[in-house]
Amino acid sequence: DGIWILNAAKTPPFYIEDNVDVDEMVRLRYRYLDLRRHKLQRNIIIRHRVAKVARDFLDAHGFLEIETPMLALSTPEGARDFLVPSRLNPGKFYGLPQSPQLFKQLLMVAGMERYFQIARCFRDEDLRADRQPEFTQIDIEMSFITPQDIQLLMEKMVATIMQEILGRNVVTPFKRISYKEAMERYGSDKPDLRFGLPLVNVASAFQKTDIRVFRQVLEKGGSIRALMAPGCASFTRREIDELATVVKQLGAKGLAWIALEPGGKVRSPLAKVLTGEELNSLKELLAAQEGDLMLMVAADEHTAALAMGQLRLYLGHKLELIDDNDYAFTWVTDFPLFEWSEEEKRYVAMHHPFTSPVDEDLPFLETEPNRVRAKAYDLVLNGVELGGGSIRIHRRDTQEKMFRALGLSPDEAKQKFGFLLEAFEYGTPPHGGIAFGFDRLIMLLTKEDSIRDVIAFPKTASGTCLLTGAPGVVDSKQLAELKIKTTI
Ligand code: AMO
Repeated sequence: DGIWILNAAKTPPFYIEDNVDVDEMVRLRYRYLDLRRHKLQRNIIIRHRVAKVARDFLDAHGFLEIETPMLALSTPEGARDFLVPSRLNPGKFYGLPQSPQLFKQLLMVAGMERYFQIARCFRDEDLRADRQPEFTQIDIEMSFITPQDIQLLMEKMVATIMQEILGRNVVTPFKRISYKEAMERYGSDKPDLRFGLPLVNVASAFQKTDIRVFRQVLEKGGSIRALMAPGCASFTRREIDELATVVKQLGAKGLAWIALEPGGKVRSPLAKVLTGEELNSLKELLAAQEGDLMLMVAADEHTAALAMGQLRLYLGHKLELIDDNDYAFTWVTDFPLFEWSEEEKRYVAMHHPFTSPVDEDLPFLETEPNRVRAKAYDLVLNGVELGGGSIRIHRRDTQEKMFRALGLSPDEAKQKFGFLLEAFEYGTPPHGGIAFGFDRLIMLLTKEDSIRDVIAFPKTASGTCLLTGAPGVVDSKQLAELKIKTTI
């Protein structure tokens, strides 16, 4: 009877309540206290339950969960690898897997026709709210499969998760939009389809224009992207400056704007040079009326699309066009196989180097890489890339061509990927798959803004663990055993 003190406790450094505003650094330092909060407990429970629903679903559909190595071979392409020195093989390193990609393909060669794994992945890249250096994927691979088969099965899995976890009925099949259309209409390869505000190419309105910047951009083959902000003609100069800041952050030189004020008045820095004809065709292209604000960026195709895409998102939030309760799924399909890397001055694989080109584009693989389409698809939810996958190359000759197109010499290809090329020679079935960002899925289901809130022990933006202090220094004996000297 009476009160027993099991273990005297100090006063916690912050209130353990849901709506107390505590600095995240402090929360992460005392994560074991932070995790006592209701909301985080709920997030961790949902995480567990989603994993169980996914496992049960995949099990019921004939998938085997198979573990693949964490100590793997470091491979080029993609993000940077985390390296692990080998004591038994001095001077040699393992790479932690960025994903189980090659192992799951080798499992297809092994005749395991349906594989999955809730797999930890490691990427040494710059971190953001939806990126951690270690994160979890629901990783899937299947033999003898088409993109449609994979998409239909995966949307069934996602619908099952939505039903079991949130009690929500989502409509399948999901929308499908090509990469090209996504870039044109939404200025993003992961469009948020919870609201409209589509981008419009308005170059046709300015074919003979006196507006110098527009003319110069069009002469150089660039584009003019516009969007109509309904009812925003009354925006102040300051509000418009804020819009300009958004597009400038993405490399646009400026934002052109035309406010259609009541009574037919036009307020715009372009008012003097804009012809009546230009104004009319612009209004028509954008379906703009009195009270609306027309916004334009003239730049090269890519910059104009990205800048206006970002502006669209900004306005979607500002004008409160987004229903927080909405789950807008879409597949993005027909990605290009390659993208040009300014940094490396060569083509790099947009998805990864094991993605199959579309059959009719195969002849252009080495001659005109930028016109080759990929059998790749992403699943996007509310503007977040939830998952991505593709049909893979399953023939040695095609894979070798792909490596050549990526600028890998035959020797390098053999050294880095010889084991894969060799495996392809033993009767490899056609195969494909997908991986979902498990943390991102949980983030969206719990309506959190950061994946840190759905991971028990996350890292900070600079990749540190504030609780344990990782990464830490090691003593010189450990380094000596590994035959490693640091230069710091
Ligand atoms: P990809 O690189 O697109 O594909 O990754 C799949 C999904 O994983 C999530 N993701 C991340 N989540 C948190 N932090 C990160 N740093 C991070 N990086 C990626 C995203 C992404 O859509 N092997 C291929 C898949 C395949 O082709 O089957 C792959 O890893 O949600």
